[in-house]
Amino acid sequence: DIMREISGINEMEAQIKKRMQLQDVVIVPGNSDSTPWVKEELGRACAVSMKKRLIGKNIIAVTGGTTMAAVAETLTPDFTQKEVLFVPARGGIGEDVKNQANTICAKMAEQTGAKHRVLYVPDEVSKEVYQSFMREPAIKDVLNLISSANMVLHGIGDAITMAERRKTNQENMNKIIEAKAVGEAFGYYFNEEGEVVHKVKTIGLQLKDLAKTEHVIAVAGGASKAKAIRSYLRSAPHASVLITDEGAARELLKG
Ligand code: BG6
Repeated sequence: DIMREISGINEMEAQIKKRMQLQDVVIVPGNSDSTPWVKEELGRACAVSMKKRLIGKNIIAVTGGTTMAAVAETLTPDFTQKEVLFVPARGGIGEDVKNQANTICAKMAEQTGAKHRVLYVPDEVSKEVYQSFMREPAIKDVLNLISSANMVLHGIGDAITMAERRKTNQENMNKIIEAKAVGEAFGYYFNEEGEVVHKVKTIGLQLKDLAKTEHVIAVAGGASKAKAIRSYLRSAPHASVLITDEGAARELLKG
């Protein structure tokens, strides 16, 4: 529309898409760092992008975070014109209950009238526990669903913010700081070059799985997240769809 033309948003979308080799970029006006309701706009834009990509039967794997929680709020019952199942992308990775993927999937299912599954596993699991978990039928079932997801929805966070929010132990905290991590997505921490410098050991979606996922939609806004967004997209094994805001987009284009 005309407002997007005037403010140069269309042009920014095209530039970021080209520079970062993405499938699509959607920028909403404003900066969610300073204007809280911009996060709701990110949510709405994500819902539109999701709807465009639905097929007959969909398995949608979703991460946690406040942005994904905002996405959940904007979903509406028209999703169920298609078959949709929401599954948490990975085991609990230390978030507060309201920001956990399990909670968000339940909310998404409630809003749309679709189905959802839960994955109750702790944040970090030992090798022994990991192996016995993998033999547990209920868990195996959800893991199979996750690996056949045709859509992944995830947030991107600032590395230190996320490590603190997850109450990461001192040893891992030092590792993250020393390795100069700047970005985080689904439990993976990235440095500016986009290299993985730390990873929360939990079951479910792994970074390499994204390569075979048809649609990967990353939703992250706020000027303070620009470095994080760039670091993650450097290594993303997939041409993602990026839903962001003007605040982050302007910073992204400066780099
Ligand atoms: C986490 C996701 O729960 O939320 C991450 O696993 C993401 O992928 C993070 O980086 C983002 O949180 P928020 O609150 O900034 O949307």
